[in-house]
Amino acid sequence: MTKSTDLKTDTILVRGGTSRSEHKETSEAIFLTSGFVYDSAEEAEARFLGEAPGYLYGRYANPTNTMLEQKLATLEGADLCRLTSSGMAAVNGALLACVKAGDHIVAGKALFSSCRWLIETFLPRYGVEYTLVDSAESANWAAAIKPNTKAFFLETPANPILEISDIRAIADIAHNAGAKLIIDNVFATPLLQKPMALGADIVIYSLTKHCDGQGRVLGGAILGAEKWVLEELDPILRHTGPAMSPFVAWVVLKGMETMSLRVERACNNAAKLADIIAAHSAVNFVRYPTRIDHPQHELAARQMTMSNKPMGGTIVAFELKGGKSAAFKFLNALKIIDVSNNLGDTKSLATHPATTTHKLFEAEVQVQMGVTPGYVRLSVGIEDVEDLAEDVTRALETLG
Ligand SMILES: Cc1ncc(COP(=O)(O)O)c(C=O)c1O
Repeated sequence: MTKSTDLKTDTILVRGGTSRSEHKETSEAIFLTSGFVYDSAEEAEARFLGEAPGYLYGRYANPTNTMLEQKLATLEGADLCRLTSSGMAAVNGALLACVKAGDHIVAGKALFSSCRWLIETFLPRYGVEYTLVDSAESANWAAAIKPNTKAFFLETPANPILEISDIRAIADIAHNAGAKLIIDNVFATPLLQKPMALGADIVIYSLTKHCDGQGRVLGGAILGAEKWVLEELDPILRHTGPAMSPFVAWVVLKGMETMSLRVERACNNAAKLADIIAAHSAVNFVRYPTRIDHPQHELAARQMTMSNKPMGGTIVAFELKGGKSAAFKFLNALKIIDVSNNLGDTKSLATHPATTTHKLFEAEVQVQMGVTPGYVRLSVGIEDVEDLAEDVTRALETLG
């Protein structure tokens, strides 16, 4: 096992968590097995009692998955990490491990639609109440607390409006109320933002996005303190079964080796495209966290950094003046950038949230969230930025 606690980020990305078998392979091995065998019935019993070390069953843990869990935990500065089959399985697992019937969750209003559905529609079926708040104003979190509040949940930057919330301030409010703060850190990636260093208790990722980063697999991760993971989270994951395939864990392990190169390049491309888009007359406004016209740009510059420099992330969003028809015309005119609802890929992807990722919501709710008919989200990839700029400019020109 590589001792990774004192290593720098780029070294952790390549070497963190690596555990070689007796063959001393260079690249991490895939242990494509659902179960494990024991030398004796006594050994099986001892392992199940937790008195002997070793794996038990693929739904609980697997050596390839352990390597990825340890890489992610080291990167995040978390005690432990658990993998799930998708980002949504991670959000669901983290929430279920924090609340029970009769408890209350406070969450940001601007969320990826499936996250909001879990909180607004699914958990209330099991007696969990919620309050949604405008997340950027920290005082709203304090005002929403009830005696039974057990968890705060937020995305920052939020999908797709790129609203930024103050993790440190909201963590303090959560802790004063005896609640846990869960951060969905998908947009910022573990490279740009360290929620745990700012006081968050639990961090979740869709590994589908930047960690794989090449559009191949779905995956999720939950990171937290040892006691919470072992006592609250593990029983739920073990017995409900959202386990990640070892093949997927291996793909993500390989993806993460190049993650900082990809993310840095995509962020630089995104910042350049944001400026080009903002200057076009067909555009009402651009949202990019570190641009001076972003309402929380000072907070973003403090909270999102890479090599101590403010870094706004790989996602740019903007509102076109002509509403839905202009947005569709723009998307259809793109020649390099693909129309897709995924993000965090090496390939640049364009999304119309109102009709895809956020179509679960009524038009009125979409507008409250900032998802207007003319709103477009660009997940910027690592192609040559001149080609991307030409593609975007050409598509904007079609709007007259
Ligand atoms: C902010 C955010 N959280 C969670 C998810 C869910 O991830 P997955 O698609 O891997 O389930 C997404 C997916 O787009 C997302 O954007």
